[in-house]
Amino acid sequence: MARAVREVVFVDGVRTPFGKANGVYASTRADDLVIRCIRELLRRNPTLPPERVDDVAVAATTQTGDQGLTIGRTAALLAGLPATVPGYAVDRMCAGAMTAVTTLGAGIAVGATDLAIAGGVEHMGRHPMGEGVDPNPRILAEQLVDPSALVMGATAENLHDRWPAVTRERADAFALASQEKTAKAYADGKLQPDLVSVAVRDEAGAWGLATVDEAPRETSLAALAGLRTPFRPHGKVTAGNAAGLTDGATAAVLAAADTAAELGLAAAMRLVSYAFAGVAPEVMGLGPIPSTERALRLAGLSIEEIGRFELNEAFAVQVLAFLDHFGITDDDPRVNPWGGAIAVGHPLAASGVRLMTQLARQFAEAPQVRYGLTAMCVGIGMGGTVIWENPHWEGAR
Ligand SMILES: CC(C)(COP(=O)(O)OP(=O)(O)OC[C@H]1O[C@@H](n2cnc3c(N)ncnc32)[C@H](O)[C@@H]1OP(=O)(O)O)[C@@H](O)C(=O)NCCC(=O)NCCS
Repeated sequence: MARAVREVVFVDGVRTPFGKANGVYASTRADDLVIRCIRELLRRNPTLPPERVDDVAVAATTQTGDQGLTIGRTAALLAGLPATVPGYAVDRMCAGAMTAVTTLGAGIAVGATDLAIAGGVEHMGRHPMGEGVDPNPRILAEQLVDPSALVMGATAENLHDRWPAVTRERADAFALASQEKTAKAYADGKLQPDLVSVAVRDEAGAWGLATVDEAPRETSLAALAGLRTPFRPHGKVTAGNAAGLTDGATAAVLAAADTAAELGLAAAMRLVSYAFAGVAPEVMGLGPIPSTERALRLAGLSIEEIGRFELNEAFAVQVLAFLDHFGITDDDPRVNPWGGAIAVGHPLAASGVRLMTQLARQFAEAPQVRYGLTAMCVGIGMGGTVIWENPHWEGAR
């Protein structure tokens, strides 16, 4: 049987406002966050019949309790999708939702599915990083990885060692810019359209509504310079130039281009290429460099042809090392124009779809841009990159 690879499109993405761990979502279940996202996707895409969803993949890094029980399947059922719609759980740590997108996208490309929902959730308040882990003693006994590889903040300090050009001052300036760009994006109404409000209860049981991210804050270079370095005495990584511990969820609709057209769903982005790569676990922040090189090679593109970058800001140093490698300045307007995880937070497995949702919005505003790139570093030494094409690109008209 002859089989052609099909075009895969990103149709729509949403996310909950991100909360600080033990903050606004302290009394909210993790699965309810991602269920809320799936329901919102169905609500705002009324021409999408729920029974046409062929699969649901939901990522979580800690897959126990309210993030367990094959969360893609249970969240699909609880979101009101018919019992005939299957689902599964994904884990590639921080790139969980990104992997849900690429795995489902590959399934669409080969014709296994026509339309699918990918998402992620991490409630870092209920599931602190490292909860229940039991690393094989061989990892340390045989020195397969450096002990610091299991503490993400320590890997960021290691990266500062390897990349001395990224000073504390540069990291803090990048962090301040992330906060300022996020504040401007909120003021300009850029982020709100893809936020789905969540009903929450406080400690006293009173109901409220989460409508905006909890973590963004006003700050200054002086305030940032005064922060402690919790991962190493006299280090460079602080609460200000790292993404904080975060609760939140994301979800997106992916489809074959012809299925989207059949259902009257507009394509927001076209999948061009994707790649994952491994690096030494103790400098996991370098991961997006080789994954991006590979994704560019697969796409036949050069870095200069990328008009927008949505880079996950797990740590400022890791984004700055990426920018240095590719010869991009710290304040390049193509990079994270609406801020990033240093301001809004990074609910590990959920963040990949946040990057994509924001890139999709930017594509709609920027018909002069043809290609965009989403990338992130991943624990245990990995990187992930997805390259997208803008269907609104004016050159296509
Ligand atoms: C860095 C980290 C340890 C900080 O945790 P924390 O100490 O609980 O963070 P807090 O929000 O309480 O901030 C610590 C202090 O810095 C201050 N602060 C945080 N961000 C600030 C900013 N942008 N400007 C000024 N002050 C700031 C806080 O007000 C707080 O001050 P206080 O001690 O006087 O109350 C934590 O956020 C972390 O581990 N981040 C990395 C998460 C991670 O590894 N993710 C995976 C990536 S691969």
